[in-house]
Amino acid sequence: MSDSVFSGGRLDRRRLLLGSAGLVAAGAGFRFPTPAIAQSAPLKVGFMLPYSGTFAKLGKFIDDGFRLYAENNAGLFRGRKLEFVQVDDESKPETATDNMNRLVSREKVDLVVGTVHSGVAMAMVKVARDTKTMLIIPNAGVNEATGPMCAPNIFRSSFSNWQVCHPMGQVMFDEGRRRVVTITWRYAAGTQMVEAFKEGFTKAGGQVLEDLALPFPEVEFQALITRIAALKPDAVFAFFAGGGAVKFVKDYAAAGLNRTIPLYGSGFLTDGTLQAQGADANGIKTTLHYADNLDTGPNREFLQAFKQKTGEEGDIYAVQGWDAAALLAAGLGATRGDWSARDKVIAAMRAAELASPRGTVRFNKAGNPIQDIYLREVRNGRNEFVSVAGRSVDDPARGCRAV
Ligand code: PHB
Repeated sequence: MSDSVFSGGRLDRRRLLLGSAGLVAAGAGFRFPTPAIAQSAPLKVGFMLPYSGTFAKLGKFIDDGFRLYAENNAGLFRGRKLEFVQVDDESKPETATDNMNRLVSREKVDLVVGTVHSGVAMAMVKVARDTKTMLIIPNAGVNEATGPMCAPNIFRSSFSNWQVCHPMGQVMFDEGRRRVVTITWRYAAGTQMVEAFKEGFTKAGGQVLEDLALPFPEVEFQALITRIAALKPDAVFAFFAGGGAVKFVKDYAAAGLNRTIPLYGSGFLTDGTLQAQGADANGIKTTLHYADNLDTGPNREFLQAFKQKTGEEGDIYAVQGWDAAALLAAGLGATRGDWSARDKVIAAMRAAELASPRGTVRFNKAGNPIQDIYLREVRNGRNEFVSVAGRSVDDPARGCRAV
């Protein structure tokens, strides 16, 4: 594999230790059935991810997860070597169109994998539609990407904002929570996750006292935490992620609210963050399409491989990167490595059934995963499985007509 990185307008090419020889070596023993394609040019993958800022760790884990799957499953790529170009999108929507155009027009990538932030993803989706570039979204949940902006060349290996939060409404109601406050960053992901939760919660019979929000990626939570204390709700529903989630959970506990007002949220509040949150996260309940202790073959394989390669505990972001690579392999597998057979590649990716670390994943007509959503609770520094909050949850793909 070869690698180049650019950020802030500069392109800095470097080759990684694991070159294309490493990719072939990882598949040692596998005989490629199509030598002509095996020798063709590498497939150029553009990673557009946050490598800096509050979501930096999330971007790195997606990148690591993708590469790890590709290294460990080289045979499934039918001899196509992968070449990577990285751009640090800094989770900034204002530079997203330029960054995406640079990957597509200047770097001439074969596909783009990105990103984490819903606002950045919206700009990427527009360019992908206009240029018909293949796009796999490995995190950002913005509903439109697999809703009104859907297209045959757009896939998501992660979730929609609606999908992970809607089941939480019923869960909280069933746990006896009746009067709830929501809190999030004021941008597409926060707004859509809160809306989805409220849809489920009010339908079940619950009442939302107040929606609190602050601009992304601000972390001055104090005034809002004081407001929660004054409102005395039965519980709080929150969406924050990455560095912001670490700070929110710690501030909430420092104010003593974790002892009196139970904290719930989408799983991003406690995924990839528990080491930094420590005991302050104990007891937080969240819904997500993953739990650390899912006792399945694919999850054990993934966690072990990730630990061995990076020294870190795998999380949902690494899973989504891993599955983005698995989805690509499904497309290439169907054409024996021929990326130019685009219709076949797309059809195979839409029909893919992934044995993901999170459980079986299929895709709906808009390219969004159909998957189980789990209720988890933080215990002993892990997001432990409690129950299935929604089985085979499918995003409604509202407004998707183009596929
Ligand atoms: C998003 O902006 O869609 C987003 C960001 C971080 C997460 C989840 C969703 O952890």
